[in-house]
This record gives sequence, structure tokens and C-alpha cells, in this order.
Amino acid sequence: MSRYDEIQAELITEPKIWLVTGVAGFIGSNLLEKLLKLNQKVVGLDNFATGHQHNLDEVRSLVTSEQWNAFTFIEGDIRNYQDCEKAVSNVDYVLHQAALGSVPRSIADPITTNATNIAGFLNMLDAAKEAEVNSFTYAASSSTYGDHPALPKVEENIGNPLSPYAVTKYVNELYAGVYARTYGFKTIGLRYFNVFGQRQDPNGAYAAVIPKWTAAMIEGDDVFINGDGETSRDFCFIENTVQMNILAATARDEAKNQVYNVAVGDRTTLNDLYKSIQEALKKYDIDVIQAPIYCDFRSGDVRHSQADINKAKINLEYEPVYNICQGIEIACNWYTENL
Ligand SMILES: NC(=O)c1ccc[n+]([C@@H]2O[C@H](COP(=O)([O-])OP(=O)(O)OC[C@H]3O[C@@H](n4cnc5c(N)ncnc54)[C@H](O)[C@@H]3O)[C@@H](O)[C@H]2O)c1
Repeated sequence: MSRYDEIQAELITEPKIWLVTGVAGFIGSNLLEKLLKLNQKVVGLDNFATGHQHNLDEVRSLVTSEQWNAFTFIEGDIRNYQDCEKAVSNVDYVLHQAALGSVPRSIADPITTNATNIAGFLNMLDAAKEAEVNSFTYAASSSTYGDHPALPKVEENIGNPLSPYAVTKYVNELYAGVYARTYGFKTIGLRYFNVFGQRQDPNGAYAAVIPKWTAAMIEGDDVFINGDGETSRDFCFIENTVQMNILAATARDEAKNQVYNVAVGDRTTLNDLYKSIQEALKKYDIDVIQAPIYCDFRSGDVRHSQADINKAKINLEYEPVYNICQGIEIACNWYTENL
């Protein structure tokens, strides 16, 4: 039995109270679904900046009414300290996901990204410390590796940030370290590497590559590849990310005050990603015949990204269960049914 299996069994026997910020978003709503299915009590905080009511509605349709009744939603803003205080009250574990994602969004509007991702983060961190929660796990980012050339990425070797977004996620880690040293409040930062899966938003200027391309292919629209297509990423299916959050929240004290890569440890080029989605969609009778259109490289993007996941394996007993192809199949199935 894996540690993840053991923890899930323990949680079912002894349910806890969780706060998921950004609960109406992609990762937040998947965390909500998993926790409710484990019969946990969940408080969710979101201001619908990029999240959607339909994500919450879908989770509602996937759990029993008893499980759904264990969920309390607070519509609020992490930039408002009182909203954070209200949300963390009586909570055991915090999974802080709320932020403005996307490198290009941060380049277009660094001020709002900064206010949400740095001031909002600090509000949540401080409110959680004051409420003396058992653990605080937050969404960090692989963008913190910036221009460091080494592959695979090892947690302690980071370079210069390449975007305002990357700065904000690095500042989160700095604040987390300061709160451990100054107040003894130890947290865990999860450096997500290109998470994808059901409920990731395919719409809008800042959509991530997998939902954007999948939706375009299903709808017969053009697919644009930034650069020559040889840019690579360590794409991580959502279920692996959910696993890491639960392992981190329930980690022993010695594993805290750390950041961990959350990925699979593989590297896929955009050209190969295109082929994988094209192949997966064939199962749903969607035959993509048009070739992708290549355009300019995007500013702020790193060229290659691949994680070393040994630290998470050793300290948290993380074992990613889904590789990219398995994840793409599940995601494609969801997009064909939900677009
Ligand atoms: N998806 C990825 O590949 C990835 C990679 C690295 C890091 N992350 C981080 O993971 C977290 C979740 O990302 P996601 O992909 O689910 O994005 P998402 O946009 O789907 O979810 C973010 C959620 O936060 C909410 N939010 C934004 N500003 C808020 C505010 N001021 N107050 C309250 N709620 C607010 C949004 O409405 C949304 O529901 C973010 O912190 C993001 O930076 C994601």
C-alpha cells in the first residue's frame, strides 16, 4: 500500500477540514472533487477572476449530496485580509491555489498579477499562521527556474526569473522561508510543471497549451505553435498534482519548510504534444488533418523544462501514476464531452 493510499484511508476514517483557495479554478476544483469524495469537509475561497461557477457545478454533479453538503463556498478575494481570516477559521489544512496564472498575462499586466500573487499570498500565509492551521501547502511554479540551463531541474538550482509571474512565485517561496525562520510557521511549496486535465479552461487569451489546442482541434480551428515546436515541457496530469497536495498537507514536520517539484520527470516537445493530442482524438472520431501553424517564440518562455522528482519521491513518497499519454486520453475524453 502506498503512503497516498494509507493517507486516503486515514482521512476517510478521521475527516479533516480543508481550505482550498482558487477552488473554482482548474486545480482547485479537482482538489475539491477529490477531498469531497474522501468525505472531507472543505471550505473554498474564490473571486471568480479566472475560475468558473460551472467548475463547482460539475463537482457537485460528481459527488453525493451528503458530500456536497460538506462544502462551504466563500466568494471573496485573497487581496482582502478579512476574507482570508474568515476562510482559514477552524481549518486543519490549507491548499492555497488562488493566483493569477500565465506568463503572458503577467507581462501584459504586472500590477494585478503582483497584487494577487504576492500581496494576496502574504495575506493567506499570515492569516493561516494566525489561525494556527496544521499545514499550509501552496502552489509555487516551475517558472522559478527561470534561465537556469540545467536539466532536469533540481529544487536548489534556480536562475533569474524571466517574467513578472515568475518573480511573484519566487517571492512566495521567499516569504514562506521567512515565515518559517521568523515565526516557526513551516509550509510546503509545490513547484507545478505544466499541469493539465479535466476542467482546465480552454478559453481566453491566456489559456494553457493543452486545453487550447485540444479545443481548437475538436472545433476544427487552426493550432498555433509558438516557435519551432522543439520547446519542451514536463506535462503533469492533474491526478498527480492532487496526490502531491494531499501528501504535502499531511507531511511530517521534517518534510516541511521545503519546495518540491510536481511533475512526471519526462520531457515532451510541442511537436510531439501536437501528435499525441491528434492521436488521442482519433478515439473520439475526430480526425485532425490540418498541420499546425508555426509563429514567433513567446517572450518570457523558457526553452526546455523537465523536473527531477526525486526529492518528492524520497520526502513525501510521491509516485506519479499517470504519464502524459494516459493524462491526454482522459483530458481529450473530457473536452469532447464538455466543450
Ligand atoms: N496550471 C498549471 O500548469 C500551473 C503551473 C504552475 C503553477 N500553477 C499555479 O497553480 C495555481 C492554480 O492554477 P490553475 O491552473 O488552477 O489556474 P486557474 O486560473 O484555473 O485557478 C486559479 C483560481 O484562483 C482564483 N483567483 C484568482 N485571483 C483571486 C483572488 N484575488 N482571490 C480569490 N481567488 C482568486 C481564480 O478565480 C481561479 O479560480 C495558481 O497559483 C497557479 O499560479 C499552475
